[in-house]
Amino acid sequence: MILVLLGPPGAGKGTQAKLIAAEYGIPHISTGDMFRDHKARGTELGKKVQAIMDSGGLVTDDITNEMVRDRLGRADVSSGFILDGYPRTTAQAEFLDGVLTRAGRKIDRVLSYEVDEELVVERISGRRSCPKCGAVYHVSQNPPKVTGHCDKDDTGLVQRDDDKPENVKKRMHEYASKTAPLKAFYAGRGLVSEIDGVGSPEGILAATKMVLAGK
Ligand code: AP5
Repeated sequence: MILVLLGPPGAGKGTQAKLIAAEYGIPHISTGDMFRDHKARGTELGKKVQAIMDSGGLVTDDITNEMVRDRLGRADVSSGFILDGYPRTTAQAEFLDGVLTRAGRKIDRVLSYEVDEELVVERISGRRSCPKCGAVYHVSQNPPKVTGHCDKDDTGLVQRDDDKPENVKKRMHEYASKTAPLKAFYAGRGLVSEIDGVGSPEGILAATKMVLAGK
């Protein structure tokens, strides 16, 4: 099963992708997580994308596509995968089509998580992440057991640089101008299912499972 998750920054794509990955036993591929990993390890790629990411801009299509092509060449994607944060431009969507077609595969469903801007901004401002394992929390909606510490490894939680208010504005603009049009791109092929992104993560997962079961 090949899934693409769409939705604005902070819609809960990463949260749902982790739950779906655990439920169906397929890998969660997040380009944001991959870039953050490169930044944390100080690789050449990480240094190249650091300033763009921190300011809320999009990394170039060439860099992003190359990274995704490499990732999709790994063996663990054989029974399916979940793309979170990719594609984000029409050029990326067309590139993905090419990669999948050459592999004789196709997207099964595009899940569009619908959340209005006010809630998204609230979610982003309260997001805290674990720099060690990548677990994501929200200070009030999805808090860790011990304030400021990861449930899994007790590491101190941090706020993402691009979650600062001035950068969130730019991310929203990038989303509206470059990524939102992908919904129509995939809807034209009958692939899009809209899912209400408001409610508990478990409730939204249940709605997602209904969609994937064709109910
Ligand atoms: P990326 O990491 O993909 O960021 P994003 O798309 O902006 O998405 P977010 O991670 O902000 O939000 P999300 O929808 O995953 O929400 P989450 O589950 O965390 O990309 C970061 C940057 O990398 C980009 O700006 C760009 O620079 C670069 N990049 C990445 N991919 C790229 C590409 N393809 N091309 C070019 N550049 C690229 O949830 C948000 C918060 O809400 C959390 O605190 C969570 O705990 C909480 N929450 C989630 N669900 C619920 C719920 N149901 N109820 C209450 N709270 C909830």
